Amino acid sequence: MTDNRPTPDGVLRLINGYWATGVVGAAAGHSLFTHLEAGADTAAELAERAGIAERGAQTLLDGLVSVGLVQVHEGRYRNSPEASAYLVDGKPTSLSNFAKLKLKHMAGLAALPDVVRAGGPVRDAVVEVADNPHWEEIVTAIAAQSVPAATLAAEVLGLADAGAISILDVGGGSGVYSGIWLEANPAARSTQIDWERINTIARRLLAERGVADRFTTVSGDFHTTDFGTARYDVALYSHIAHQEGPEDNIAVFSRLRTALKPGGALVVCDYLVDDDRSGPAFPLMFAAEMLLKSKQGGTWRRSDYQEWLGKAGFTEVSFHSAPPATLVIAR
Ligand SMILES: C[S@@+](CC[C@H](N)C(=O)[O-])C[C@H]1O[C@@H](n2cnc3c(N)ncnc32)[C@H](O)[C@@H]1O
Repeated sequence: MTDNRPTPDGVLRLINGYWATGVVGAAAGHSLFTHLEAGADTAAELAERAGIAERGAQTLLDGLVSVGLVQVHEGRYRNSPEASAYLVDGKPTSLSNFAKLKLKHMAGLAALPDVVRAGGPVRDAVVEVADNPHWEEIVTAIAAQSVPAATLAAEVLGLADAGAISILDVGGGSGVYSGIWLEANPAARSTQIDWERINTIARRLLAERGVADRFTTVSGDFHTTDFGTARYDVALYSHIAHQEGPEDNIAVFSRLRTALKPGGALVVCDYLVDDDRSGPAFPLMFAAEMLLKSKQGGTWRRSDYQEWLGKAGFTEVSFHSAPPATLVIAR
């Protein structure tokens, strides 16, 4: 006889979901994925290389096997393909700094019951506070997330062969898109609007990539900074729409339509949810982050973007998957 009664296993794993944040953040903090990649494959070796207790190393390895980031075979451990691609220090796609940062953010979730009652942040507002130091920590930690999306957008738009184009990046953060696009196209130029402290970080990172001479920054609030008229071939709005409400997104899209040359393209990158709000999983959950940190943000539906871009004067809209994000390209 088969027993189809549900077990508590899945619910218990969710209730204790913070264990995963802790184990992944601590493993990143001690560069475990990097040591595994370099060939250390037992708890004893990892403990020695990382300077941690062997009991601690074994516990982290057990947790990492549990979440599928590390594989074990006859007592030897190795990174899963995902861990190898996204958690090894020094790789352009490495999210290990982000894993460390999220471990620090975990305590903030204790406010969620109050936040849902209030419908927005009850303390530690982030998004609406001008020039908030929060961004300094976050922009470099999230830069790697944008590598696949920036690469895909460059392919879709044929940026490498587009000649002497000019690009506007609104809220460009680390400047990761400009870095990738300016490297791909040696005739392109890019302008980033962000807060001065963030622009300083971006200028340093773009100098390290050797493209700073084609990178300009404008410091200030993008809600009020003039974008100009018919000045740019490509405009970018990456991971900004989720911090804004519908009215502000429409207003920015309209100003970007004006700032683009005729035929120019707006690239939006964000966590889009399906129109019936049934998925995908990551964007659905990300709405909680925006409830905690912004007064009006959220994860918006494909139909929202379509409607807002139409109101802003764009006539062609296409969607391109860059999981867990989606690129929206509008002309
Ligand atoms: C989530 S980060 C996204 C960074 C980058 N676009 C990316 O995709 O990696 C948001 C960025 O927008 C900037 N930002 C947020 N609100 C802003 C505002 N009102 N004016 C100017 N910049 C702002 C922050 O400083 C930060 O660099």
